[in-house]
Amino acid sequence: MLRSISDLDDIQYYGKKVLVRVDFNVNISNGVVTEDYRIRSVIPTIEYLVKRGAKVILASHLGRPKFRDQNNSLAPVAVRLKEILNRNVDFIDDCIGKEVYRKIEKLNFGNILLLENLRYHPEEQNDDPEFCKAIASLADIYVSDAFSTSHRKHASTYGAVKNFDIRLSGFSLKKEIEYLSMIRYNPRKPFTLVVGGSKIKDKIGALENLLPKADKLLIGGAAAYTFLKAKGFKIGDSLFDEEHFDWVTKALSSFGEKILLPVDHIVSSDENSFTTVTGDIPDGMCGFDIGNETSRIFSSEIGGNGFGTIFWNGPMGMFEVGQFAGGTMNVAKSMALAFWRGAMTLVGGGDTIAALKKSGVSESEVTHLSTGGGATLRFLAGDKMPGIEALEQVN
Ligand code: 3PG
Repeated sequence: MLRSISDLDDIQYYGKKVLVRVDFNVNISNGVVTEDYRIRSVIPTIEYLVKRGAKVILASHLGRPKFRDQNNSLAPVAVRLKEILNRNVDFIDDCIGKEVYRKIEKLNFGNILLLENLRYHPEEQNDDPEFCKAIASLADIYVSDAFSTSHRKHASTYGAVKNFDIRLSGFSLKKEIEYLSMIRYNPRKPFTLVVGGSKIKDKIGALENLLPKADKLLIGGAAAYTFLKAKGFKIGDSLFDEEHFDWVTKALSSFGEKILLPVDHIVSSDENSFTTVTGDIPDGMCGFDIGNETSRIFSSEIGGNGFGTIFWNGPMGMFEVGQFAGGTMNVAKSMALAFWRGAMTLVGGGDTIAALKKSGVSESEVTHLSTGGGATLRFLAGDKMPGIEALEQVN
């Protein structure tokens, strides 16, 4: 059983030290947070605890530093958090040790402290028992609101959690589990999957679970060229995933009638000039986006879904470059249209969220925007999620 923060009586938070594992692994450029969706998504949990007089201690990782390195400091996140909450947020340049204890003791009830990057200590990623104890000794209650890192078996997501008698999910984690479980077990029909990006490997588990339930799978992005090759098309110099070719061939033979592949492509030989080809991609050319006819077909499939469910993960092409952005922008706009027409729309993955933003579609035009990239795909694949499992082991 997973208990959430609203399952505990308010009085149990008053004056208590509550450690909240968040995922503030966000984009920072020149010391300024440039994408803050993950920060905003945990505001309800922070405010809930603040209002109940808890000492709120926030812990996160940022990037994959091998050592203490200023480029991966969470200090800019404290600044952004202060702006969003319009209240003070204390920051301390470590996550364990005497100074951290002192700072927590001095923290007033209802105040917030953000700890420095957990990964400055390699023990975090090794789930080191001593480090787990040090983390667990910071607080009385543990809350996880970090779905996007719940696939990691690290000290702050797993080992330390088991040292707490009271371990709870925050509102964001709870919402993620509810929406993604709906897709995983019982999607409202018709169920349309829209998959792009380049790495087939990362999506195999989720596709194996979801394909039998899906009515349609639309494939764009670099992943599509491996599928096209398996169907006998020429793909020129486009990305080809040889390692997963057998899996793709099997998926086509089992679910071929559900799978829609691009019929035309925006191709280029040098990324500076581009043209559209239908069917085969000539040698010397590389596909960078779906073509206009494919965009039209995909848009009508998505926009015409009706009252079902649509899950989108992965861009249709190299959308960061203007001439190859059209297919992805069309999918984003069609997702918004489907939402307004009554479909349940879910979007996951860092690139996909960036694409949505670029298209001008607002977050409120999507039913659920998952904070997770790898975590979302792993959850949908039915993989073990240590960060959720640790919460469930209630004594
Ligand atoms: C993510 O961005 O997917 C999460 O923060 C996990 O980060 P990691 O892949 O570095 O563990």
